[in-house]
Formats: sequence, structure tokens, C-alpha cells
Amino acid sequence: PSTLQEAAGMNDGRYFGTAVPAHLLNDSANMTIVNREFNMVTAENEMKIDALQPNQGQYSFGTADRIVNWARTNGKGVRGHTLAWHSQQPQWMRNMSGQQLRRAMLDHVTTVATHYRGQIHSWDVVNEAFADGSSGARRDSNLQRTGNDWIEAAFRAARAADPNAILCYNDYNIDDWNHAKTRAVYDMVRDFKARGVPIDCVGLQAHFNSGNPVPNNYHTTIENFAALGVDVQITELDIEGSGQSQAEQYKGVTQACLAVARCTGISVWGVRDNDSWRASGTPLLFDRNGNKKQAYHGVMEALTEG
Ligand code: G3I
Repeated sequence: PSTLQEAAGMNDGRYFGTAVPAHLLNDSANMTIVNREFNMVTAENEMKIDALQPNQGQYSFGTADRIVNWARTNGKGVRGHTLAWHSQQPQWMRNMSGQQLRRAMLDHVTTVATHYRGQIHSWDVVNEAFADGSSGARRDSNLQRTGNDWIEAAFRAARAADPNAILCYNDYNIDDWNHAKTRAVYDMVRDFKARGVPIDCVGLQAHFNSGNPVPNNYHTTIENFAALGVDVQITELDIEGSGQSQAEQYKGVTQACLAVARCTGISVWGVRDNDSWRASGTPLLFDRNGNKKQAYHGVMEALTEG
């Protein structure tokens, strides 16, 4: 195999994806790499709530549709990111609370999931709903303050609107099995499965840096989530660093996913280093000129060693 998507596919049909922001759709150097290497696409910002519903009841699908249409025209799957989130809310939503906010959130989930029905491989239905640190609590937010059941309400609305999409809960810093946040998400998913709340997948964002390195127990985390009866997807992978050390960490993440049958795909959060959301640094698989880095070869080694 000579590309990430081809090599990933040889591992029981796994996918390999990346984030695409609208402003790079016309960057042919970038899109050539996306088209060659990847078979799953996530809109980096364009399917967030503020982008899709800038004014209440007035949806703006044009930019997101351009990304989805590019993906579908080129035979790629699409990860939808994200239906419900405390961040990137439009101003009108940030000012809301209580039943009014609950209704607005559910309307958004229903309208967006209906617009894209049948076109989305997986939805990040709810993003980043748990607190950082050792509390294991939900994150305080306007959505959380509408009632602890807001997450399951969002999943039920998404299932009703797009019954065939894989529905994911997506978060960061839930990679280390010994982290309280990881256990809290695990407990929620276990509870959802026990009560028949429609959840199909856990998305591990996987943003790593020196303060938050790839954990030694990553395989355990992935295995434990999968044992609950959900898929695991690595959804926003990037790893600060460079050279051999970065390559080994990328290889380790890929191996951890491949070791679990229900870890069905990996997406990196961008293509070239200089297009990364991280203002400085070199966290991705391609350098600013689009050349493959050691990190790329580390991933490829893992995908082809089986
Ligand atoms: O487009 C405007 C531009 O017009 C304006 O001049 C400029 C001034 O600040 O802002 C531009 O918007 C920025 C946007 O990225 C596009 O570049 C926003 O300010 C900025 O907040 C936004 O950052 C995004 C961030 O999410 C916040 O939503 C990053 O690109 C995106 O990579 C990042 O992605 C998140 C995932 O959604 C969730 N997980 C973590 C991940 C990394 O933070």
C-alpha cells in the first residue's frame, strides 16, 4: 500500500481521515494530499453550531455543504462535527437557558441531522461534556444546566433524524484509563447502553503534547470502551513534537487502535503542520510543503506490519 487510506483499509476495512477547513478547499496542494491519502473527512469548523445556525431559525448550510459535497464526489465518508457543544455557540444560544435552550438545542440537532440524513458516516452528537481535572463531573455549561439528561436527549433526537448514522460521544483527555474524566465518560456510556440510549461510538479526540502524552495504557482504554458494545474512533489526532519521538508516538496510537477490532478508524486534525489549529509547532503528518514526515512513516509502519 502506498497511501494511508489504502493501508488502513487492509486492516479490516478501517478508514483514515483528516479535518478539512473550507478555506483550504481551493488549495490544490492540500486537497491533492487529502484526496490521495484519506477516505474520511471532518469539517474543521463549518458544521459547528455557530456556523450552521448564526441566527435562531436561520440555517446557513452552504459552506458545510461544499465540504460534504467535495467528500461525496470524491468517494470519501464524512464525520459530522458537532451537533451539541458548550463552545462555538452563536450569541443567541449563549444567552439562553432552561427549557428554551433545551428546545433550541434539540431543534438544532434535528434540523442538521435531517439536512444531512444518509450522508454522514458518524456524528459527534455531543462534544466535550465532561470536566477536566479529577472530579469526574460533567462540565458546567448552559446545556448541562438544562438538566443532566441533555446528552441522552440529544442522542435520541439524532437517532430519530438520521437512523443509519453512527452516533458518537466525542471528547479530549479521555485517552488515559487512569484519568477520572475517562472513567466518567466510560460510566456514562455503560449507563446509556444499559438503558437503551442510542449511542454507537466513543470518539477519542487524541490531542497529545508533552503535558499530555500518549498514555502507556491507551490500548486498555480503547479495549474497555469497545467492550461496552460501542465502536471507538480516534477523531482528531495530533501529537506535538518532531522526529523519531513523534513518529513512535504516532505509531503507538495506530497500533493501539489496530489491536481492538472495534476501533474502526483514525482521523488526524489537519494535513500540513502550518495549517494546524496549534499556533506553533509541528503536530501533523506532513510538513508545510506537503512532504511526508517521519510521523507519517510511523503510522504507515503500524498499518502495514500486521
Ligand atoms: O474565521 C475567522 C476569521 O474570519 C477571523 O478573522 C479570525 C479571528 O480570530 O477567526 C476565525 O475563526 C477562527 C476559526 O478557528 C477559523 O480559523 C476562530 O476564531 C477559532 O476559534 C477557530 O478555532 C477552531 C477551534 O476548534 C474552536 O472552534 C480551530 O480552527 C479548530 O481546529 C478547533 O477544533 C477543535 C474541535 O472542534 C474540538 N476538539 C478540539 C479541537 C482543537 O481545539
